[in-house]
Amino acid sequence: GQRPYVIDEMISAKSIAARIETLAHEIEAAYEGTDKLVVVGLLRGSFVFIADLVRELRLPVEVDFLEASSYGNSMESSREVRILKDLRGEIEGRDVLVVEDIVDTGHTLAHVMTLLGARRPKRLRAIALLDKPTKREVEVTADWTGFEIPDEFVVGYGIDYAQHDRNLPFIGKVRFT
Ligand code: PRP
Ligand code: MN
Ligand code: MG
Repeated sequence: GQRPYVIDEMISAKSIAARIETLAHEIEAAYEGTDKLVVVGLLRGSFVFIADLVRELRLPVEVDFLEASSYGNSMESSREVRILKDLRGEIEGRDVLVVEDIVDTGHTLAHVMTLLGARRPKRLRAIALLDKPTKREVEVTADWTGFEIPDEFVVGYGIDYAQHDRNLPFIGKVRFT
C-alpha cells in the first residue's frame, strides 16, 4: 500500500557484502579450532544478515534462532523485550555467536546476552550489522560491528518499519514526506 515516506539508500548491497566478507574472516580467525559454533539469529530482523554471514564462514556451524521483540509496530523501543521463541538447542559449554541486525537503545541485545549467559556457554559473543551508538540506553557492545550509523530510522536487509521493507536488498533511511 501507500506509505507516507520515501527511502534513501544509506548502505548499498555491495558494501554490505564486502563488509560481511571481512567480518567472516575475523570470525573464522577468532574461532579457529572450534568443534562447532552455534550461530544464533535474533528474529525477525537478523534473518537476512545471518543467511549471508553463515555462507561466508568456513567453520563448522549450527544455526539456531531466538525471537525477541521490543518495537512491535512502533518507531520507539518499548524497552521491554519479549521472548517469543526460544532456542531449539542447548548451549551449555558451547561457542555461541549472537547475530543481530542493529543495536539501538541496546535493550534487546543486553537482555538476550544476559539470558543466554545464564546458560553457561563456553564463549558468548555478538555481532551486529549496524550500531547506532548515540541512542544507547544500556551499556552493551557487540564484539563485531558492520557499520556505525547516525541516528536515522533505517529499514531494509531484514530491518522493518511496522513490518514493511525487510526485503529491500540495501539499508535505507526513512524520510517522511
Ligand atoms: C529491532 C532490531 C533489534 C532491536 C534493536 O527488533 O531488529 O533487534 O530492535 O533495538 P534496541 O537496541 O533499541 O533494543 P524489533 O523489536 O523491531 O523486532 P524484529 O527484529 O522482529 O523487527
Ligand atoms: Mn530485532
Ligand atoms: Mg522491528
